[in-house]
Amino acid sequence: MKIAVVGTGYVGLVSGTCFAETGNHVICVDNNVQKVERLRNGELPIYEPGLEVIFKRNTEDGRLEFTTDLLDAVNRAQIIFLALPTPPGEDGSADLSYVLGVAEELGKIITDYKVIVDKSTVPVGTSEKVTAAVEKHAKVDFDVVSNPEFLREGVAVEDFLKPDRVVIGTSSERAKSLMHELYEPFVRQGNPIYFMDERSAEMTKYAANSYLATRITFMNEIANLCEKVGADVDMVRIGMGSDRRIGKRFLFPGVGYGGSCFPKDVQALGKTAGENDYNFQILKSVMEVNNAQKYVLAHKIKSHFNNDLKGKRIAIWGLAFKPNTDDIREAPAIFIINELLEAGAKVVAFDPEAMENMKAIFGDKVEFIKHRYDALKDADALAIVTEWSVFRTPDFDFMAELMKEKVIFDGRNLYKLEQMKQFGFYYNSIGRNT
Ligand code: UGA
Repeated sequence: MKIAVVGTGYVGLVSGTCFAETGNHVICVDNNVQKVERLRNGELPIYEPGLEVIFKRNTEDGRLEFTTDLLDAVNRAQIIFLALPTPPGEDGSADLSYVLGVAEELGKIITDYKVIVDKSTVPVGTSEKVTAAVEKHAKVDFDVVSNPEFLREGVAVEDFLKPDRVVIGTSSERAKSLMHELYEPFVRQGNPIYFMDERSAEMTKYAANSYLATRITFMNEIANLCEKVGADVDMVRIGMGSDRRIGKRFLFPGVGYGGSCFPKDVQALGKTAGENDYNFQILKSVMEVNNAQKYVLAHKIKSHFNNDLKGKRIAIWGLAFKPNTDDIREAPAIFIINELLEAGAKVVAFDPEAMENMKAIFGDKVEFIKHRYDALKDADALAIVTEWSVFRTPDFDFMAELMKEKVIFDGRNLYKLEQMKQFGFYYNSIGRNT
């Protein structure tokens, strides 16, 4: 099939590359000339495990192209994906100006039947708005389909190639059959493609992300309470998660959820609720609790040093909002570092992939260190913020030698309490005894 993907952000780039991987011809369009130039030269703007290999294969085979020419891309495609940003507007609702702007352009351009697919996370009712925008100028038939994306950063390629399910919102049989043909290679293990109306598809995406954010937030509160009552949240998590109705995944407490999706989507769903005269109480609490959770580790560090961090050297391991990505959008590390700097600390940081991005925010205010152990030299404490695998089994004896004080604040519960005692560390984690 011939596909155009408008927008080469995270979702657009991964979707386009994976569609090419199953033999389709994909033309990715972006209005950022430099970005397109770099992509044409084989340079990926994001770090995503596994993407480089299939990106290279498909561009070299000529199945994956990049252009700034929307007209040419659209003329050559049967299906046009809109993978454009929907950032939060000032009031928290999703800003649809990119999506609707391109939709209007498409109306002017299309000369034969096209399926126009909303891949971006868009509020309920957007497919009708997109239809109206295309209709303004369109002289030929078209269908608008809502096809939300559920991939996670860090495992995006795997998630896209083997999705748990594909959700497609459309009322058109013609569009349904094309979308079915396109997605069949991705669900060969028998995972379902669910067809539904457009509004339900749009709602499914927000409901899924907001539910996951709520689940994590619930566990963060359980963890905070565990500390007060002397329970161990790791045990509680295992005990709870073994109930099949609950399930084991996404129950890990930590330093609060971040990233480009959960914070934005929880806020936008709350906004949608408000606009429809519904008081979505839980979402308000989720946002409030998550904002507080981002500071829990920094507050623990401050209180350990009697609220005076002047002259203290604090090492940070992990800056990305989660492992296997260089993405720092809404990363808890930003909030933690700000709090530590404000209290007078000297912050030295290491992350396997996200240091360049973090440098753009903090510049010289934070010392970025190339090797994880070098960050520990003369440190008064180590704070672990992201659970990169490389932090899981470090040389504790060596760490103890390097550090001025044997103090670890672990926002991701990476180490066993026994083990920490053996090595003589003061070890403070989330929802467990110190
Ligand atoms: C999330 C969803 O998981 C994807 O299904 C969705 O497609 C995507 O948003 C999106 O809307 O584009 P992502 O933001 O890449 O994916 O990352 P997650 O793996 O979901 O993690 C989000 C945050 O929750 C991270 O800060 C992570 O550290 C935190 N988290 C996750 C926890 O604190 N505990 C957990 O048990 C799981």
